[in-house]
Amino acid sequence: MSAKDTEVTTRQRQRLLRLARAAMKHAYAPYSNFRVGAAVLLRDGRVFSGCNVENASYGLTICAERNAVFSAVFASLKKPEVVAAAVLNHRGAPCSPCGACRQVLAEFGPRAVVWYFGADGLVERTMQELLVDGFGLCPHGYDKC
Ligand code: THU
Repeated sequence: MSAKDTEVTTRQRQRLLRLARAAMKHAYAPYSNFRVGAAVLLRDGRVFSGCNVENASYGLTICAERNAVFSAVFASLKKPEVVAAAVLNHRGAPCSPCGACRQVLAEFGPRAVVWYFGADGLVERTMQELLVDGFGLCPHGYDKC
């Protein structure tokens, strides 16, 4: 796949950020009071979003990014390909995707570009930068199959 194939336009990035912002308003985060929204852009142009959903049994909490990806899977008849993702939180605090979300994003978008807030504002990273040597069942590497 060439770099051109994964190019995401400014308009698409803005749309992702807008949808991530809208999604975080739906967050259920009474325990951390940290509301997160995420949006993923698929190869076919569709966009799905998600928010974090917490639970009194803290470990059952699910992050915004995974909810966005799982919504895309649920709405797709074949494996969706994530080409870009955006993550925002209501505090504008640094919040990169957690390890579990990186592994899930990599399953559907090993070459995706991801935007999230870092210490100095919006950060752009590729999934290859975010997840080095992630787990996969392909003997050639998780991002090769
Ligand atoms: N959270 C996300 O939704 N995404 C991340 O990448 C990191 C953390 C959520 C989980 C929890 O509801 C809250 O943020 C505080 O950890």
